Amino acid sequence: MKKILAAVVFVALMAGCASVKVADFDSIQEYTLKNKAGMEVKLTNYGATITSIKTADRDGKMDDIALGYNDVSDYMNAVDKPYFGSVVGRYGNRIAKGRFTVDGEEYELATNNGENHLHGGVIGFDKVVWDAEIVGKNAVCFTYLAKDGEEGYPGNLSIAVTYTLTEENEIQIDYLATTDKATPVNLTNHTYFNLKGEGEGDILGHELMINAKGFTPVDKGLIPTGEIAPVAGTPFDFTVAKPIGRDIGQKDQQLEYGLGYDHNFVLDKEGKEGQMTRAATAYEPTTGRFMEVFTKEPGIQFYCGNFLDGRLKGKSGKTYVYRGGFCLETQHYPDSPNQPQFPSTILRPGADYETRTTYRFSVR
Ligand code: GLA
Repeated sequence: MKKILAAVVFVALMAGCASVKVADFDSIQEYTLKNKAGMEVKLTNYGATITSIKTADRDGKMDDIALGYNDVSDYMNAVDKPYFGSVVGRYGNRIAKGRFTVDGEEYELATNNGENHLHGGVIGFDKVVWDAEIVGKNAVCFTYLAKDGEEGYPGNLSIAVTYTLTEENEIQIDYLATTDKATPVNLTNHTYFNLKGEGEGDILGHELMINAKGFTPVDKGLIPTGEIAPVAGTPFDFTVAKPIGRDIGQKDQQLEYGLGYDHNFVLDKEGKEGQMTRAATAYEPTTGRFMEVFTKEPGIQFYCGNFLDGRLKGKSGKTYVYRGGFCLETQHYPDSPNQPQFPSTILRPGADYETRTTYRFSVR
């Protein structure tokens, strides 16, 4: 297996796109985007993954705030499959018992998370090699054709995910997909953030705001019960920013099931459906780093690294401790194909799946 960072050798520089650098190791490439402010994002076509995000702290010190590896084989073999930085799909999050019915036809998917299906199955979109094209200044488009029947899903699904680093210190992620048979689709990105820097301890001191008055409670297997419960008066109330660790130790059945936060929040949408909403913010007081998440999606999975336990070492050799990173996975709600009262995730032939999420970085 090729190393994606085996040597810091950039072998190609696209004319006219001077800020995108490409390191090429056979079919696996790494792309480096850098804006005028010096923010830098690295991507690889293995899993359409964000491998690194370097942003300034309040003193101008650059740190990598995304968990990840140097070597593609680590992405492939990591214990407990953390999905660091990758696109997950065809269906990000869980589908109960790996079963669903579309237009009267029942489909059966791999059960790779207890009795349930998680993040697209055994070989989800995080574990395939995507095609890549530089599509503009600081923009790379990854494409993949998921075949009819792949991981049990119906329909040839053609996907394009474009990452753009803007001059406003944003990572903009545009998702597009089309299909030739009705299929569930729910794409997201699974970056783990630690705004202190990757490997710099746990994330419990980050002050998180989630723009959601409701969340979808789950059963033991993290499948939604179908209810949308108010966050008010529960540890799930992040409507006003609070440290992630403040209520995480409370005695609460939902926290027990999630082993902490690992839940979908129902976003309070501004404006019309399909418009961008400020979904969440995270502030890290010691470095001053501030992150805002905007999305067209109706939900966001807040997962706080409950399965990290110090066994994984990251790209700079530092240990990823328990709760050493958090994910804000913009998405439709888990198990939507089996929960008709949730917004639909079924994409039909002739329709476009089109969604956008933006992560914006600044300091305070
Ligand atoms: C998601 C899930 C978690 C866990 C992580 C990967 O966020 O909701 O339960 O599986 O992915 O470790």
